Amino acid sequence: MAQRRFFVGGNWKMNGTKESLGGIISTLNTASLHDQTEVVCGAPSIYLDFARSSLDPRIGVAAQNCYKVAKGAFTGEISPAMIKDCGVDWVILGHSERRHVFGESDELIGQKVAHALESDLGVIACIGEKLEEREAGTTEEVVYAQTQVIAENVKDWGKVVLAYEPVWAIGTGKTATPEQAQEVHEKLRAWIRANVSDDVADSVRIIYGGSVTGANCRELASQDDVDGFLVGGASLKPEFVDIINARE
Ligand code: PGA
Repeated sequence: MAQRRFFVGGNWKMNGTKESLGGIISTLNTASLHDQTEVVCGAPSIYLDFARSSLDPRIGVAAQNCYKVAKGAFTGEISPAMIKDCGVDWVILGHSERRHVFGESDELIGQKVAHALESDLGVIACIGEKLEEREAGTTEEVVYAQTQVIAENVKDWGKVVLAYEPVWAIGTGKTATPEQAQEVHEKLRAWIRANVSDDVADSVRIIYGGSVTGANCRELASQDDVDGFLVGGASLKPEFVDIINARE
């Protein structure tokens, strides 16, 4: 079985100033971080350059979104080529806020995933069910359908991290229990085994997001199929260091 490197992404969302983000950045730069953990900070697009030039090179930077083509008349959008030009190597795509606040479809997310990968960005591809879908017992159906569209657009899984983020857990303080997270991650890995390949199922990092904190990260990290986290609110606080170091 492939050894999967623990991956912790921070998603700063539309928060912070140069001053406050600079504070987090200097905390991260000077902290003792588990050297086996891959760390990536998702910065607002206007601060990508700032984040990349201020963060220690051992910490990656991600954009929080990008468009599906390299350039053109798309006012307000940014392209993978521009992200790369800022020295940034990752992009978060399909986040639930992009899906549900900005109405991005599975189809558009798939196109963005394909173009970002062709442009040599790593992709943190997000999926997750809403509360009413979980309550209706359709969690698997929803996350498999979202994963299917992503999978159709991936040629090289080596540059993809799959983030399972139940929408009901994002920013709500209602974290999935370790058992709930493990159950979905295990099923997603089985889906990948059946629909992609054994190699990809063994090697792809499936990370959990939704109200991860310094207090709950260790138990979540101890689950077999939880290969890291995507962290929103807590990634803006010093406890992000504890989350990065959650894996023993
Ligand atoms: P949260 O956000 O940690 O604040 O719940 C997670 C995310 O949206 O990625």
